[in-house]
Amino acid sequence: MVDFLFKKENLKKGVFFYFSGTGNTEYVSRKYKELFKKKNISVDLKIISDIFITPSLSDYDFVIVGCPVYSFNPPLFVLEFLKILPVVEKKPFFVFATCEKTVGATFFSIKNILTSKNYDYRGSYKYLMPSNCNGLFGKEEISEDKIKEIISKTDLKIEKDFKNIIDDNKEEVKNFIFLIWGYLIIYKFFNKFYIKKHKWNFDSKKCIQCGLCERICPTNNIILKKKKNQLKFSNNCVLCTRCYNFCPTGAIYYKSSKNKSSKRYDFFKNNFKK
Ligand SMILES: Cc1cc2nc3c(=O)[nH]c(=O)nc-3n(C[C@H](O)[C@H](O)[C@H](O)COP(=O)(O)O)c2cc1C
Ligand code: SF4
Ligand code: SF4
Repeated sequence: MVDFLFKKENLKKGVFFYFSGTGNTEYVSRKYKELFKKKNISVDLKIISDIFITPSLSDYDFVIVGCPVYSFNPPLFVLEFLKILPVVEKKPFFVFATCEKTVGATFFSIKNILTSKNYDYRGSYKYLMPSNCNGLFGKEEISEDKIKEIISKTDLKIEKDFKNIIDDNKEEVKNFIFLIWGYLIIYKFFNKFYIKKHKWNFDSKKCIQCGLCERICPTNNIILKKKKNQLKFSNNCVLCTRCYNFCPTGAIYYKSSKNKSSKRYDFFKNNFKK
């Protein structure tokens, strides 16, 4: 087995595997790409929900995994994707997550899978970004000024963290193990009952039949039946909230939400126009 000595000179080309429901994680990925470029390190960005076969990593010196936090963990399909990555010989990996407040067991779960495949863990980075699920839980979405303020703080942290990555000053978000257990139990409940049981609804009077939701859903979970003026949701929703937040007329709402017309989080909507 090759014992990879981490040196910045070894970082010539990397790959980002990321998923972003509403643009926060994509924003951070692109920022990183720019910073790596300035150091003459090229980076390929790959969207996890678009990958269906085991990717080859032979061209890459390092791997970065980025995802939003769903119920104190990575989205389940992100974990499933990591399980199909090839076993390697000490390839360095970094992980980052965007969240409103708490990453919970996110880094613990990702680290477990990748270190079991012999990836060389080099640090975890947390980025506070605006929440994309406030409306779902009855909270008001935040103002544009607040969104900009949060993002500009994150910009500064990305630059600081990038320096740490390049200088190999490993940063690690740590949790007590009993807290991790708690987060994992909540996550089991979230995936088994909450995601499966939840239902999106749509208001046919508000829908202008633009088809955007159908086109941008990362799991092809939505079918627009124009003639019947109906929107059909199948059973493979990952609760990324993209359709809900980006529908131009707010026609999609969360069934159990108290305020169906609460403001949506659509700051990055233009990145998803198709
Ligand atoms: C279903 C769901 C669950 C979430 N759970 C958490 C959470 O446990 N902790 C947290 O801080 N943020 C949570 N969030 C907020 C998102 O992690 C956050 O807004 C993230 O930056 C969204 O990234 P994206 O735009 O790349 O999808 C949740 C969002 C959704 C949709
Ligand atoms: S994005 Fe909204 S308005 Fe457009 S088809 Fe979907 S529900 Fe209707
Ligand atoms: S139905 Fe909506 S929330 Fe569910 S995966 Fe598709 S875009 Fe995301």
